[in-house]
Amino acid sequence: MTPDEVRRRLADLARVELAELPTPLTDCPRLSSVIDGPRIMIKRDDCTGLAFGGNKVRQHEYVLGDAIAAGADCLVQGAATQSNHSRQLAAAGARLGLDTYLLPKLPDPPVPAQGNYLVDHLFGAHIRPIGPGESSIAAKQALVAELERAGRRPYVTGMGADRALLLAAVAYVDAVVEIVEQLPPGARLDAIYTTSQGSTQAGLLLGCALLGLSTSVVGICPMPPEHEAWIAPDQVADMVRGAGDLIGAEPDTPYGEVELRQDFVGPGYGVGSAAGREAMALLGRTEGILLDPVYTAKGFSGLLADCRAGRWSAEQTVVFVHTGGLPGLFAQPDEVLAAARTDLG
Ligand SMILES: Cc1ncc(COP(=O)(O)O)c(C=O)c1O
Repeated sequence: MTPDEVRRRLADLARVELAELPTPLTDCPRLSSVIDGPRIMIKRDDCTGLAFGGNKVRQHEYVLGDAIAAGADCLVQGAATQSNHSRQLAAAGARLGLDTYLLPKLPDPPVPAQGNYLVDHLFGAHIRPIGPGESSIAAKQALVAELERAGRRPYVTGMGADRALLLAAVAYVDAVVEIVEQLPPGARLDAIYTTSQGSTQAGLLLGCALLGLSTSVVGICPMPPEHEAWIAPDQVADMVRGAGDLIGAEPDTPYGEVELRQDFVGPGYGVGSAAGREAMALLGRTEGILLDPVYTAKGFSGLLADCRAGRWSAEQTVVFVHTGGLPGLFAQPDEVLAAARTDLG
């Protein structure tokens, strides 16, 4: 399919306008030279605009388009206290005039309101914290039942909400079209790296397949398999098919094996890794671009490790999709300072 044909398929889906698109594709020549690696470009989905930006703003255009088309009158999401998804959903709910219910999993003892959790309070969301040992999926189900008993029509997003996760993937088909149109003349899209729990990687894989590209799409998983939101690589392959069905498109190119890497999680979900801190410091010092410790630093550390291992040569072009998460920096000052002290080596 051509980019225009892909766009026409996407235009058939319900959608609301939330993001500043296209986001920039930023060249990183100083970084490439320091690591003696490929041309590295960053797709700046940290700059999607709404409430500090991030990948969910792009995804919520389709997810909330679907919610409104289905007649929903409120939104339900539950995740970590520092959930970027929750922040972006609450901001989108405010913009669209939809009540948003958030179920942040607060640690015990509770932490001071900071980062995402601090700004969540500004969007008029109904915030109902749950305990550290509770299931976010079960808490969302219980809240949906309560809202329905009260005559409301809730729409659930995030983990456990299969349709919303597929629509979130669809949004990244669009991102591939943007990237292809933004690439400098002569550059080939050899690889795309991103941090993903499924949707973003599935959409990137589908986008590349629909456009007939042989690009490697590498997902870096930010959490261990024990986490409730973790999904396996074969589930990502199912998401690619499911997202393709939603847009009525079956790509000619096979997806191959999904490369969703588990080797950059570090000590656990929500906690920074040594390789991530080095990535944060290196990108900050060479290009003035920020990464967050929980998601994007881990993803970028995966890209750096592969470049240093010689997987990509100087003639190749690798795009890192920056999925945002930057308010999380302010909730983890120790991580940020530790990164700043990291030696370039
Ligand atoms: C900053 C950031 N990056 C990546 C992800 C994962 O996105 P996806 O579930 O679409 O793969 C998240 C999810 O919340 C996130 O906040």
